[in-house]
Amino acid sequence: MAPKVAVIGGTGVYNPDILTDVREEIINNDYGQAKVALGTYLGKEIVFLARHGATHSVPPHLVNYRANIWALKELEVEYVLATAAVGSLNEGMAPGSFVLVDQFLDFTKNRPATFFDGGELGVTHTDMTHPYSPQLRKILGQAAESLDITVHLSGTYVCTEGPRFETPAEIRMYKILGGDVVGMTSVPEVVLAREAGLSYATVCMVTNFAAGISPIELTHEEVLEVMAKNKENLTNLLMETIKMI
Ligand code: HPA
Repeated sequence: MAPKVAVIGGTGVYNPDILTDVREEIINNDYGQAKVALGTYLGKEIVFLARHGATHSVPPHLVNYRANIWALKELEVEYVLATAAVGSLNEGMAPGSFVLVDQFLDFTKNRPATFFDGGELGVTHTDMTHPYSPQLRKILGQAAESLDITVHLSGTYVCTEGPRFETPAEIRMYKILGGDVVGMTSVPEVVLAREAGLSYATVCMVTNFAAGISPIELTHEEVLEVMAKNKENLTNLLMETIKMI
């Protein structure tokens, strides 16, 4: 049987455009509720999940990451391709570029971040040497190359609590600590995916230079605008990657 792949659509990616025979399902589990669309692409079963909801109504700090990842696990998904809009701290990663992040720095404050809360599952410490699947990142890199899409093959994602954007002082600190891009959703999503044993990778789309680096104040509209401009490349990259998995 072909492996099951999930796409978690971040900001600007709300519809399972590429799928046929789409049906929507609401999945209830111990952690809450997840809404998914199930469909097929090139004979593969694909699960699509809009992280912020179909109308971008759920802010990053209120996404039910555990319900979402548990639902994918229950659906027997093996590979998860996530998308994320990010700001850049790295002058070499300009707006419009893609980054296949390989590390994260966690600055979230107030989110349920594990499936292992003691009890029946016991005390478990999950290895995070390779939080983002090297195998999936490699396939994404090859897919990008075959499509002539420029990607940065590695980078460190700084995850903030949000929903506010950062201060320039915070951005200076994140840069000193080795961050390349900043967003509000990769943690705990990637952590939960690792805990659940899923292969998970994130395609980051740089939508802006971060606060204090950008000469203008940040707005969500700017983020959406750049996402919309690059959506075709992002969709092509996901389609080619799914083909290669
Ligand atoms: N900061 C945090 N999250 C973001 C940004 C940013 O500058 N751009 C897109 N998502």
